Amino acid sequence: MSLLEKVAAIVIRAGDILNEEIERGFSITKKGQIDLVTDADRAVEQFLLKELAQELPSAAFCAEEQGWLGDSHEDAIWYIDPLDGTTNFAHGFPYFSISVALAEKGETTLGVVYNPISRELFQAEKGRGAFRNGAPIKVSRIADLQDSLLVTGFPYDVKTTAADNIAQFARVTKASQGVRRTGSAALDLCNVACGRFEGYWEQRVNAWDIAAGALIVKEAGGMVTDYHGNTLTHQSRSVLASNGLIHQQLLDMLRG
Ligand code: IPD
Ligand code: CA
Ligand code: CA
Repeated sequence: MSLLEKVAAIVIRAGDILNEEIERGFSITKKGQIDLVTDADRAVEQFLLKELAQELPSAAFCAEEQGWLGDSHEDAIWYIDPLDGTTNFAHGFPYFSISVALAEKGETTLGVVYNPISRELFQAEKGRGAFRNGAPIKVSRIADLQDSLLVTGFPYDVKTTAADNIAQFARVTKASQGVRRTGSAALDLCNVACGRFEGYWEQRVNAWDIAAGALIVKEAGGMVTDYHGNTLTHQSRSVLASNGLIHQQLLDMLRG
């Protein structure tokens, strides 16, 4: 079994834990005014840390709920979002995912994103293409923003920050076929990768939200940068992913 196959199997088992938590009922607490965390986030993170540590004992972790575990200068680092779309999960809206990426010497080499409700598994390995439930996926070929369906997200400090994405949301809505706000950055990226959306943008994201999905977009033939058109790194806090064909049009829109 390859490392990717092992990680995919672990992530699917993590999805079973999320489904069990829904059956059993979970408690919700607040990290901020609109930033929730549930028992399920913590249980899945714990499970992933334990299972992935067995696969690569020397690798460090950057996991949403526990932060850094191990040395952040380690050659191999797992970026983990145990539940991407916690607000959806807490409200019973069936659109959330588990996101796991492996970075080696600063570059993402493996990414897995899983929606345990639709049972869609997206995965990619650097240089080896992107897949949805085992079948190869490609970004769309729509080249005009007017004909594009986009997706975005808003930060948890949307009530107070100047970087609230409201002006960009308004501009792109008027210039495109539509903009969705679905609530899971990792799945939004995968939906760009398989051609359902032409592009996705968001500010104030973290590597655990986007590292796996960004690799999946790139391996599906798309383009991923930050808001300034620079190469995405694990330190980037803004992201623009697209089919490549509308990338510049979107960059111009985001700048205003
Ligand atoms: C959030 C989701 C949401 C995005 C936020 C993320 P969480 O992750 O991906 O779509 O807009 O920026 O923080 O908190 O549910 O893991
Ligand atoms: Ca997240
Ligand atoms: Ca999360």
